Amino acid sequence: MWNELKSNFTSALVFFREFILFNFLLIIIILILVDTPSLSISLILILLFISLITLNLIGARRRKELNKIKDIITNISKNIYADPDEIILSRNLSGLEDAIKGMFEKAKSDIEYLKRLERIRTEFLANVSHELRTPIFTIQGYLETLLNGAINDKNVNLNFLEKANHHTINLSNLLNDLIDISMIESGEMRMSYRYFDVHPYMSQIIQELKPMAAEKSIELLYSFQADEKLQLFGDKNKLRQAFINLIQNAIKYTEHGKVEVIIEEEKKHGLILIKDTGIGIPEQDINRIFERFYRVDKARSKAVGGTGLGLAIVKHIIEAHGSKIDVKSKINEGSEFSFRLKK
Ligand SMILES: Nc1ncnc2c1ncn2[C@@H]1O[C@H](COP(=O)(O)OP(=O)(O)OP(=O)(O)O)[C@@H](O)[C@H]1O
Ligand SMILES: [Mg+2]
Repeated sequence: MWNELKSNFTSALVFFREFILFNFLLIIIILILVDTPSLSISLILILLFISLITLNLIGARRRKELNKIKDIITNISKNIYADPDEIILSRNLSGLEDAIKGMFEKAKSDIEYLKRLERIRTEFLANVSHELRTPIFTIQGYLETLLNGAINDKNVNLNFLEKANHHTINLSNLLNDLIDISMIESGEMRMSYRYFDVHPYMSQIIQELKPMAAEKSIELLYSFQADEKLQLFGDKNKLRQAFINLIQNAIKYTEHGKVEVIIEEEKKHGLILIKDTGIGIPEQDINRIFERFYRVDKARSKAVGGTGLGLAIVKHIIEAHGSKIDVKSKINEGSEFSFRLKK
């Protein structure tokens, strides 16, 4: 009882100045208005008594409210609430209630964001380890077989060395892609934007990729529908990497027909389209193909040599140019990737 009273007064201490001032004023009024000293003293004592009771009641109420706030904060830190509507304060504290709810929602979404990042990081690590393990084990297998005697077997030695070499190249490509991804994501990829003549630039890329298409008996066509001197603004080297990735994909995922690269001129942009008559992408996968390591058909992608990092890099490069990559695709009819670059 005594302790409770003490706590109530302690909680009401913030109003102590008002309490003194109020009583002081009333005492002066009593002294002025009441002539009889005994009556004044009685009135003053009654006044002090009522004030103390009021102060105690105010203290009790404040203590209750503060305890409620303390409980809410403790519950938030112990993750007890699932929904912000579980946070309820008295009506006169609705502003504070809203602020606490806002804080709760912010903390909740921050935690979810961090958990998602952590999950992505773990998945990324698992994917990287898996992708590294496969070629390393394969190379190891060939080398061990060679060391165990196959080196002297003229029927297989060259073939095994070529296979090991092929996997070394894949490994090195994978490492380069991983370095690119990590540079992009840590913001370390430096871009160097300039105007460049797009026609000779694209002709060169097409020439380089013609043998890859020819190997699969696919036509690689290039259609430049713009002013011969059209210049576009961007990082030539990074864009080259994006174009090569997109055209290589088009060739890789096309069995018959053609791959066509089209450049059209618009008022303020150059529109670049990479079309193929290939296997197409299922609708439910279209939004996911830009995720790191995402492949629609893992077995097929593996067979044509892919880790699923290509489009993630392409997307970053195009977005760094303030643009956005669009995809249209129909199963067994083909796909079309397109984006714009500033003139
Ligand atoms: N033109 C296309 N036609 C059909 N599917 C495509 C095409 N381009 C991409 N894809 C699908 O999107 C997936 C992701 O493409 P991405 O370029 O990121 O990876 P990848 O080609 O498998 O490997 P890499 O990292 O070597 O590029 C591919 O595995 C494939 O399933
Ligand atoms: Mg690719």
